[in-house]
Amino acid sequence: MNKSDCLCRVCSSTISDIFDFGNMPIANNLIPVINDTYTKNEYKYNMKIGVCINCSSLQIVNVPEKELMFNNQYAYFASQSEFMKSHFEKLGNKVMQLMDKEKDYILEIGSNDGIFLKYFADKQYKHLGVDASENVVETAKKNGVNALCSFFDEETSIEINNKYGKAKIIVITNTMHHIENCQEVAKGINNILAEDGTLIIEDPYLLDMYKIGSIEQVYAEHNFIWSLHSYKTLFEKHSIKLFDVEHFDTHGGSMRYYFSKQNLNKTSTMQEYINLELNNKIFDINTFIKFQENCINISKELYNFVVSKSKEGKIIAGYGATAKSATTLNYSNIDKNLISCIYDSTPFKIGKYTPGTHIEIKDAKLFTKDSPDYTILFAWNHKKEIIEKEKNNKSKTIWVEYIPKLKLTYEN
Ligand code: TMP
Ligand code: ZN
Repeated sequence: MNKSDCLCRVCSSTISDIFDFGNMPIANNLIPVINDTYTKNEYKYNMKIGVCINCSSLQIVNVPEKELMFNNQYAYFASQSEFMKSHFEKLGNKVMQLMDKEKDYILEIGSNDGIFLKYFADKQYKHLGVDASENVVETAKKNGVNALCSFFDEETSIEINNKYGKAKIIVITNTMHHIENCQEVAKGINNILAEDGTLIIEDPYLLDMYKIGSIEQVYAEHNFIWSLHSYKTLFEKHSIKLFDVEHFDTHGGSMRYYFSKQNLNKTSTMQEYINLELNNKIFDINTFIKFQENCINISKELYNFVVSKSKEGKIIAGYGATAKSATTLNYSNIDKNLISCIYDSTPFKIGKYTPGTHIEIKDAKLFTKDSPDYTILFAWNHKKEIIEKEKNNKSKTIWVEYIPKLKLTYEN
């Protein structure tokens, strides 16, 4: 295990390198057309992952410039999933009970297409969304959401504070793990969170990732995978304290964290997860070595399956042109020569090509008619919703899952 040249962005300890993926494209940088200009100039970076066994965070050690990832071509629109809409509606209802509608406002960092703040806009709650990608901000505005296009940092927090005052609630879902400069964000939150306010963060959880071997949660845009211990380390430095957590199955296993500036009683659920992390040895480098071996086996198993079916002349497609599949496809050397296309319902993605592997993305509406022999479920975290939808459409295929291990489901 090599020591990395980089220091942990959470606690400044030396981190240990665990994975070198070689050259990888940016996962959401879909290619509009396949020609020499695009393919030769495709941006790649050497994706290396390290782990800090002092604070238990997994992080990419050499993150590309943030403007290369978050810009007016950002490909992820969260509202494509009905399940996620209802997940956020439930959070919205819970949060509204913590707010005084006349006085308080809610700030969301990483508001994407407005999937969450829409409920606040519809019910005339004071709210503000901040997101760094212009195209998703435009969609949020069309959804009636008050949104600002900016990276959230200390300066932005001062501007927001001057205009709106302190926020009673700050919500950051599936975004904190996108942000390389987590100290700057924590400083900004400290500036703007009300003394009696609540900070709520939700993102993929380290222990789940370890359990199912889903290294593909990591790509340039997801440059951190957090745990209770690592979030505590970060926010305690900025006088913000974790007091509760809630676990969800979303995105392959996510944790929702509740923080306050006040010294609130810690819940028993929080203590249970603190103990679970210790029992699962998240401070032991061997835990991550086993995780790495598991991920390599999953990748080899998928590659061997695709090559053998391709040799038999079968049509193999994918479902869900997910950002995380960019890690799996590029790392496993599965490209357009092995996969006929990937079906997806996001209008922005349809007609484009996957980064690095140049597989065409087709409208999910064509799936029933095309009926590929095998369909790799790249959006495995939306399995129930997708398989039910395609069952209703009477689509015929053999579904292929690869996490936590290769599994075929016959659907005809
Ligand atoms: P995610 O796993 O990062 O949320 O990405 C899911 C991708 O799958 C996204 O590109 C939208 C796509 N998708 C469909 O095409 N059909 C669906 O029914 C769902 C839920 C997602
Ligand atoms: Zn650390």
